[in-house]
Amino acid sequence: MEQLLYEGKAKQLFTTEDPNVLRVKYKDDATAFNGEKKAKLEGKGELNNRITAKFFQYLAERGIPNHFIKVISPTEQLVKKMNMIPLEVVVRNRVAGSLIKRIGLSEGFKLSQPIIEFYYKQDELGDPLLNQDHIAVLELATEEQLMEMKKIAKQVNLLLNEWAEQQHIILVDFKLEFGSLDGKILLADEISPDTCRFWDKQSGEILDKDRFRKDLGQVTDAYQEILLRLGGNEDV
Ligand code: C5P
Repeated sequence: MEQLLYEGKAKQLFTTEDPNVLRVKYKDDATAFNGEKKAKLEGKGELNNRITAKFFQYLAERGIPNHFIKVISPTEQLVKKMNMIPLEVVVRNRVAGSLIKRIGLSEGFKLSQPIIEFYYKQDELGDPLLNQDHIAVLELATEEQLMEMKKIAKQVNLLLNEWAEQQHIILVDFKLEFGSLDGKILLADEISPDTCRFWDKQSGEILDKDRFRKDLGQVTDAYQEILLRLGGNEDV
C-alpha cells in the first residue's frame, strides 16, 4: 500500500512498492514568506513537475547525478529515496531577495563570485542562515559532506548558467537540497521557478516565483515560458 510519507507546501511524497523509490506529486499550491501568503495557481504543479524533470535530466546528462528517475504523470515523478540533509543550499550570482538586506547592495548587482549560503530547513525557526560551525554543532552534515555539497552546487551553477546564457536568461540565484544515498551526496528535491530567480535578459521581465511574492500576476505564464526555454513539454 502506498502511503503519504510527507506533505510540504508545494509537494506530497508517497512511498511506492519499491522501498528505494518515492513518488513525488507536485501541487498547485503557492506559498511565500514562510507560509504567510498562500494561493492555488492552476497548472503550477504540472509545470514544476515538468521543469524539474528537464533540469534534472539536463544535469544528469552533464555528470551531476541526482534523485530523479522518471516522470509518471503530468504532476508526478519517481525519485530515489534518500536520507535528506536538512539544509537549503542557496547559490547567488546577483543580489536579490534576502541578500539585499544582508549586504546592502542593490537588486541586480552582479557579484564578483557566486555566494553560497546554507539555511536550516526548520519552519519554526524561519529557515535561518547557518555557518559551518552551526552546522557542525547541530550535526546536520559532516565537513566532508558540506565540501561536497558546495562543489556540486558550484558545478550546477556553471551548468545552469550555460543553459540560461543560451536562452537569454539571467540566473540570479537558486536553492538546492541534497540527500545521502549509500554514502554518496546526491542532488534532490526540485529545480523550478519556485526555487530559482530567472530574469529575461532583454526585457528584464521576472520569470519566477517573485511574480507571486510581489503580486505581479501571470505567474504560471512565466513558468510556462521557462518550460518552453527548456525545450517544451513533450514528456508524458
Ligand atoms: O529569499 P532568498 O533571496 O534568500 O532566496 C534565494 C533563492 O532561494 C531564491 O531563488 C528563492 O526562490 C530560493 N528559496 C527557495 N526556498 C526557500 C528559500 C529560498 O527555493 N525556502
